[in-house]
Amino acid sequence: MPRSTLSRFTVISGGARRFHLQHDGLQDELWSSLRQEAIDAYACAPMLGSLFMDSILNQPSFEAAVFHRVASRLKNDVVGLAVFVEASHRALAAQPSIGETLRADIAAVVERDPACERFLEPFLYFKGFHAIQTHRLAHWLWHNGERDLALYLQCRSSEVFQTDIHPAARLGRGIFLDHATGLVVGETAEIDDDVSLLHDVTLGGTGKEAGDRHPKIRQGATIGAGAKILGNIEVGAFARIAAGSIVLRSVAAYATVAGVPAKVIKTASHADAARRPGHIPGDLSYTSFDYFI
Ligand SMILES: CC(C)(COP(=O)(O)OP(=O)(O)OC[C@H]1O[C@@H](n2cnc3c(N)ncnc32)[C@H](O)[C@@H]1OP(=O)(O)O)[C@@H](O)C(=O)NCCC(=O)NCCS
Repeated sequence: MPRSTLSRFTVISGGARRFHLQHDGLQDELWSSLRQEAIDAYACAPMLGSLFMDSILNQPSFEAAVFHRVASRLKNDVVGLAVFVEASHRALAAQPSIGETLRADIAAVVERDPACERFLEPFLYFKGFHAIQTHRLAHWLWHNGERDLALYLQCRSSEVFQTDIHPAARLGRGIFLDHATGLVVGETAEIDDDVSLLHDVTLGGTGKEAGDRHPKIRQGATIGAGAKILGNIEVGAFARIAAGSIVLRSVAAYATVAGVPAKVIKTASHADAARRPGHIPGDLSYTSFDYFI
């Protein structure tokens, strides 16, 4: 493992080094770390040199790099890379806070995915991270009068990343899509900050309601693989939905539900939930994007 990665990784649990995720002019530590990881990776895998150069080392900023990487996966013979890159420039110029959101999302992967050791990994290879960023652009376009490009992004994301997220769905920050394959998120769904979703999750309607008809997932909840959450119901903060569950009723905060239809198998207090692996520490709240690694 490259030296810079090793030294950072050793402080990931229980370390007290403050890692600034917020873009702060010259003090863009996340971007510096990612660039260093690319340099280290280049030394180990020179055959991927053009990937590291085009995606990271020749990019002017973290934000530009993220959208360039996503665009390079979405482009095809009909709609080229420049269309997506140019749209992302418009979105970032109009709403600079998108940059903080991208940082919280990549931090969420490194923090919560035990298989992830470097920022480089979600940035270059994980389609969950790419799908979320595609949605962030589509969401901005949707709300700024560019319905067709928004829908085209949804369409391409579903082809390339196997995720189908309606552009109108509202996503908070620090969202982690693990594997991502088969994720479906309906138009009126809401996913609050710090939520983790495994593959093959559906946040859908029951087919019996119109209008506001999709689930609302509150902060810090974890939705297991294959879970289907149907209807305009709420999954409370830090609740857990077991893999394979079908959830038809609202779930209380901190509860764990499982089965078809899902029933409560565990309840927890805030303190119990805080001890669970993967729990989001208070430092990763939406008011601050500093966290400890
Ligand atoms: C829901 C979950 C978080 C519960 O973890 P936990 O708190 O450690 O719960 P336990 O393992 O102690 O199980 C408690 C009870 O729920 C049952 N249970 C757990 N997961 C279940 C599931 N997915 N479906 C049905 N029952 C389940 C257990 O059999 C056990 O029942 P018992 O008390 O009758 O023996 C975990 O089982 C889960 O589903 N995680 C999602 C993981 C995932 O999606 N992985 C995919 C990786 S690619």
